[in-house]
Amino acid sequence: MSYFRENIDAMTPYVPGAQPKSGQKIIKLNTNENPYPPAPGAIEALRTFDPEGLRRYPDPMAQDFRQAVSDVLDVPADRIIPGNGSDDILVMISRACLEPGKKVVYTVPTFEFYGVQANIENATKVPLDCDPADSIELLAAEDADVTFIASPNSPTGVLTSTEVLNDLAGRLTGLLVIDEAYADFASENALELAAEHDNVAVLRTLSKGYSLAGLRMGFAIAPPTILEGLIKTKAIYNVDAIACAAATAAMADQDHKNANARKVIASREALGDQLAELGFTFPPSQANFLLVRPPTGNAREIYEGLKARGILVRYFQYQEILADKLRITIGDDEQNASLVAALKEIMA
Ligand SMILES: Cc1ncc(COP(=O)(O)O)c(C=O)c1O
Repeated sequence: MSYFRENIDAMTPYVPGAQPKSGQKIIKLNTNENPYPPAPGAIEALRTFDPEGLRRYPDPMAQDFRQAVSDVLDVPADRIIPGNGSDDILVMISRACLEPGKKVVYTVPTFEFYGVQANIENATKVPLDCDPADSIELLAAEDADVTFIASPNSPTGVLTSTEVLNDLAGRLTGLLVIDEAYADFASENALELAAEHDNVAVLRTLSKGYSLAGLRMGFAIAPPTILEGLIKTKAIYNVDAIACAAATAAMADQDHKNANARKVIASREALGDQLAELGFTFPPSQANFLLVRPPTGNAREIYEGLKARGILVRYFQYQEILADKLRITIGDDEQNASLVAALKEIMA
């Protein structure tokens, strides 16, 4: 006997990367967190938060935060919707747009949560085994109700150019969701497409570039026609008052975020060189991680070897096409050096 819909019983849940207890001495390179602290203003906002703000409900649309995003991205505040992380926005989109008979298209490998959302809504999934950059024809021909493209993609790190996304948006009649969780580490982004196309939503998060994964704050930029539906499916008070205060301060300190992103990018290039010297191969990453294939493809063995040495990386054990690969988050210099030393030891 089950209380649930048949498709809920049948589906497999999203499996998040391991989160060791705080205080455990682990080098954590498995869930693409930022190795550097959040903006001082965000920490100050947490320290000085007025408890009166806990007694009352928060602003349901997080107006202060929206205004801070609007100021930074030069997008009207009423074209921004806040989310409890960008995964919350993915849930709103799926609730608003999907149902049995609706089609969801995405390329693989990508963020598995897209498929999970399609399963929850019992929509039809069409995962395409290709890179979006060379597959516009294919994606356009599917003309799904919702097409999800992560750019830079996870777990590959590969960016799809704005030119390609613009072309795709123009050819689709359905919704194009451009998930830019890693845009802060990339050479370009497709934000402008949310202003130029009626069918484009661009998603951002404070989890990666802003070092605030634990706070849970993300947002979408989209035309009014799309936001209207998302507001209807949003939980009433989806972002809390504390998160809103800290995220607003973090957003206002672009210098801090950009300086950290520059450090991560420099480390990504340096670590890439070192891993290439060890025989690892990987696609060019514009994110804060590398999807590497060890020289003999023994990803699981290396994952276990690193884990035994207190270093966590991501091994996607349930995905066949990723069985010989590891996704490694870029850490700080010391963490990256420990990683390389451990890899040399394991491979010796
Ligand atoms: C491509 C992509 N999109 C969205 C998310 C969700 O991020 P958050 O909910 O922390 O904003 C992630 C998380 O790792 C991701 O990799």
